[in-house]
Amino acid sequence: MAVVNIIQSDTLADISQALKKYPSVFVVSDRKVRDFITEPLLEYCAEAGTALRAVMYIRTSERRKSLRTVQKIQRWLVECGADRDALVLAVGGGITTDLAGYAACTYKRGVRYANVPTTLLAQVDAAIGGKTGCNIGGYKNMSGVIKQPEFTFICPDLVRSLSWDVFSAGYAELLKTFIIGDAKLYREAVEDAEFAKLGMFIRKAAQIKAGIVEKDQFEGGERRKLNLGHSFAHAIEYKSGHSLFHRGISHGHAVAMGLVMAAELSEKEGLAPKGFAAMLREDLQKTGLPVDCPWTAQELAGIIQTDKKAENGRVNYVLMEDIGKVVIKKL
Ligand code: GLY
Repeated sequence: MAVVNIIQSDTLADISQALKKYPSVFVVSDRKVRDFITEPLLEYCAEAGTALRAVMYIRTSERRKSLRTVQKIQRWLVECGADRDALVLAVGGGITTDLAGYAACTYKRGVRYANVPTTLLAQVDAAIGGKTGCNIGGYKNMSGVIKQPEFTFICPDLVRSLSWDVFSAGYAELLKTFIIGDAKLYREAVEDAEFAKLGMFIRKAAQIKAGIVEKDQFEGGERRKLNLGHSFAHAIEYKSGHSLFHRGISHGHAVAMGLVMAAELSEKEGLAPKGFAAMLREDLQKTGLPVDCPWTAQELAGIIQTDKKAENGRVNYVLMEDIGKVVIKKL
């Protein structure tokens, strides 16, 4: 049986079909999508007779991605009388799906959850593959578990109204996925970054990610490739959160910068040909992504050592030999 269950649909109303078999559904939604996604979704569910029990709206930010918020969600579940047959439905971006998923996975030693990702980043990455968790003291995703959602409902239409900042952050993860899994799609997504193709790009990226997770759910090998650019990105996010001058570089934008730094390291290690990093930088710039990291690789090194992907003080870097050819190297 497949580990990853992705439901793709052009209509949000189809969510009610997916929810029919669950006797007791608790929605945890980002407040930001309340009016234009969650309320219509609740109406569709009510019309279809879905067993919706309660709705909780949360505020999201990296600072609020904390154990405190997880606890708040769990206290709400207790107060609503949620029991072992509950399904927690997360509606929002990656922070919401990570938090609600973690709360569900540890509530009463684990109840089911499902995701309705509403950002591009969550549709192609965060809401697929079962990673859930929260930050600890500014360090990203230090507490968490991997448990697959019942399903991830992907409706590409939902991301069309995102601000440029939020949209482009997701585009960085989409390009990352194509760098790992499909050189032809990468080129197409760089040269033809247009809305008409977006639905197809999202579908393909979601399939590539699902395929990798199917092979290696718990990140023993193949799945590590999905961390391409992320060792640098997490350090950039940490630095930006603690800097007066570069406050709040988003995860996706940090990934774009991290991809360029990973390409530079790949060249330095003799894996990628000369000029590879410059080419990647130019490609990402073409799609409007930020590529210039305010810190050097040396300045990020200490933080990278604390990343949860480090083992015995050495870091598993995901490096590139070429587009479509990614390798893991311990340095
Ligand atoms: N975001 C990387 C992964 O899901 O493995």
